[in-house]
Amino acid sequence: MTKRIGILTSGGDCAGLNAVIRAVALRAHHGYGWTTIGIGRGTLGLLERPVEAVTLDPARLDSALARQGGTFLGSTNRGDPFAFPMADGSLKDRSGEMVEGLNQLRLDALIGVGGDGSLALLRRLLAPSGLPFVGIPKTIDNDVGQTERAVGYSTAVAIATEALDRLQPTGASHERVMVLEVMGRDAGHIAIAAGIAGGADVVLIPEVRWRLDRVTGHIARLRAEGRTSALVVVAEAAGQSDEAADASADAPGHGVGEWLAKRLAKATGAEARATVLGHVQRGAMPTAEDRLLASALGVRAVDVLADGKGDRMVAWWNRQVIDVPLEKVVGRSRTVDPDGTLIRTARALGICLGDAG
Ligand code: F6P
Repeated sequence: MTKRIGILTSGGDCAGLNAVIRAVALRAHHGYGWTTIGIGRGTLGLLERPVEAVTLDPARLDSALARQGGTFLGSTNRGDPFAFPMADGSLKDRSGEMVEGLNQLRLDALIGVGGDGSLALLRRLLAPSGLPFVGIPKTIDNDVGQTERAVGYSTAVAIATEALDRLQPTGASHERVMVLEVMGRDAGHIAIAAGIAGGADVVLIPEVRWRLDRVTGHIARLRAEGRTSALVVVAEAAGQSDEAADASADAPGHGVGEWLAKRLAKATGAEARATVLGHVQRGAMPTAEDRLLASALGVRAVDVLADGKGDRMVAWWNRQVIDVPLEKVVGRSRTVDPDGTLIRTARALGICLGDAG
């Protein structure tokens, strides 16, 4: 029987989303003879009448698409069906309208590409309808539970590493402390990975409690050894784990890099400069690793539906693609393990984590 499956990308975009869409549509067509409908702008497209959707033509999904950053379908992180932000500032339950939009598309199943927040909302939206749903994890933050990798993370780490490669020579030339603020709303995965790969001296993440005097002490030791500059990576959520309660109350999320640079300059007397990498981490041509992951997860998501399963998320685990129950994913984000390999590697390399303990 010819099926119609829908796909939407939801939440903050990242590199590799187009490769996911392509893999889903190609697998659906070549593997099962199914039609894939791409829904526009995440859940927002479901509110339009007619619904904003397009039939994906496999002949037009060539490899150029796998190279492109962003998502050609569009996305939103302001589309909560149950608390939709209205123009007047109020929140409205628009889940009924979205379900009605889905009904108009006459789908047999839906694939949602999102972080844990988006996947939880889509799961809740679809539960009463019984429409089979499979989630594909994506987020540069890499904090989706039950998967070692989310699409977009590899590219973000590569970009943050390259930023450190570029900051090091200018910092060394001017004998400065160079602070790089990287994304990660609640987790320090990008910071710790890029910090190791890019040769940072200090990495501050929300999962490890830190103190400013430990950081300044480390920078002073480097100076005593003859180093005149330092590289500091700070995750945007690291203000949460600053042990100084008063400072942490003032700590910004986005903007923590500037805040930290000022404090470091004051405490060390060194010149400090902050760079906020921001959305640069999201908008690139995906790395080979992200394209591979996107392709493997996209194919598996369609196979899961073909097996008659739903309420699952496809995942990367132990060098394989698997699928797991969505209920084990939602509400359980995966932050950096303070005793895990990356933290142990960073410590062994002499990277200061600012340990307050
Ligand atoms: O969750 C992905 C993410 O890029 C976070 O790292 C960051 O905190 C947030 O989204 C930024 O969101 P926005 O695009 O709304 O500024």
